Amino acid sequence: MQGEHSLELGKHIGGFEVIKHIRSGGMAALYLARKRGPGGFERYVAIKVVHPHLASDQSFVEMFWDEARLSARIQHPNVVHIEAVGLENGLPYIVMEYIHGCPLSSFWKRIREEGKCMSPELAVHIAMRVAEGLHAAHELRGDDGTPLGLVHRDVTPQNILLSYSGHVKLIDFGVAKARGRLHETTAFAIKGKLRYMAPEQAWGLEVDRRTDIYALGIVLWECLTGQRLFRGRNEEELLERVRHPQIPPPSHYAPWVHRELDEAVLRALAVRPEERYATALEMRRTLAQATKSLEPVEAEDIAGVLADLMADEIVKAKTELPFEISGVQPIQRSGIHLLLEKPCSQEISSPSTNLHTASQPIPQSIHSKVHKPISMGQVLTVAFILGVFTLGAVGLVVWLSRRAQSLPMPPTQPLAPNPSSPAPSPTLLVPESEAPPQPKASVEPTPPLPSVPPTPSSLTESSMKAPAKRRTPKAKELLIEHVDF
Ligand SMILES: Nc1ncnc2c1ncn2[C@@H]1O[C@H](COP(=O)(O)OP(=O)(O)O)[C@@H](O)[C@H]1O
Ligand SMILES: [Mg+2]
Repeated sequence: MQGEHSLELGKHIGGFEVIKHIRSGGMAALYLARKRGPGGFERYVAIKVVHPHLASDQSFVEMFWDEARLSARIQHPNVVHIEAVGLENGLPYIVMEYIHGCPLSSFWKRIREEGKCMSPELAVHIAMRVAEGLHAAHELRGDDGTPLGLVHRDVTPQNILLSYSGHVKLIDFGVAKARGRLHETTAFAIKGKLRYMAPEQAWGLEVDRRTDIYALGIVLWECLTGQRLFRGRNEEELLERVRHPQIPPPSHYAPWVHRELDEAVLRALAVRPEERYATALEMRRTLAQATKSLEPVEAEDIAGVLADLMADEIVKAKTELPFEISGVQPIQRSGIHLLLEKPCSQEISSPSTNLHTASQPIPQSIHSKVHKPISMGQVLTVAFILGVFTLGAVGLVVWLSRRAQSLPMPPTQPLAPNPSSPAPSPTLLVPESEAPPQPKASVEPTPPLPSVPPTPSSLTESSMKAPAKRRTPKAKELLIEHVDF
């Protein structure tokens, strides 16, 4: 599938000459194409062509067209602009602006490999730009003024592009619905981003703009922490976690994240859609408010970080892409301050106090711990007190054990299982540094979420309607891709 592509290089399609195959995904192949005009005019675009084996599925193609037409209406700097849709030899295609850059997923991975982490201002800047693009799409109206109800459904780091000039662009708008259609029509799982699905989506219930807000919340959480929010040993386990989310505040992994930002992220990640932001604009505003004391980030700063971190990709592109695309040097500023040296996996102490479901309030203690720097004097004082205390405790134990040895022992009782004692707590299924921490006995346990598909009333009350005949999808049917980023 990866190598599948159907257009010959040099061929003309929609007035553009196909000059390079860029990549093939589960649904379509992507090409770089160029239009030439008088006076040396040249313009480059990306053309996404549906694979031939899918082009014969009439209902898939109709959905693809519908959604492509709708997304072509979105005019926003943070959404890749769609220029045209067309049909070439029976293959539907989309012509869009070409973005010379990389997906957020590659950037995130590279930062992690470097043992660094995005600063809150960088992570929030990216999330705010995506929120703006999403809002423009969510607000789309038809010619008669009625809302079109467009939902992206696939807001993931793979679908957020960072141009090497530092701009943030959301791609793949609207095609997720057509892609969703694929699992009903084909026997095999194509792809999908289970780990970025909102619970209602993972239960196969209705989605709306708040589903995208949740997905953006996950992207932001992962950018802030450098960790994946949901992991599983297999698809079923991952699906379970996505359906019953247990979400620690970002500060659990990234202690520099302050309380207000923690809360802003967790609100996007509320299990119930009605507890999330009502709009992506509201999310963007709240994030802006939560980070108003931080240094503003500009495109030049991001261009600087990308030039540093993605240097090999940028050099490679220079050999593979036309100079008009790869040779243009974006304005850069050293964005070094946008990456933090501290490894994100470093956790603050007492993780057991930090686990929350998304909708729970955050105890003050976490944040006071994070934000008050501890002086060396305080550390020495505490160490001294602990030392004295430990010596005293050891002495007491020795004294007690000597005394016990001198007393007569009661007859030994066989240990019978106590039916009222709680079941042993489940072992961690994934390494602790990778997985969100599990609740400990000393913490008020996270209220268990239903183990059966929630009815619309239990999950979302009045806000979501589950079609009567809808069946709860299994993990494989949710179009899983083992996204390795
Ligand atoms: N307009 C574009 N400009 C440049 N690269 C793009 C563009 N659209 C997609 N890509 C590249 O192709 C990848 C997959 O594109 P996408 O449209 O999301 O396809 P898929 O259907 O496989 O998810 C992106 O992560 C990006 O690397
Ligand atoms: Mg995609």
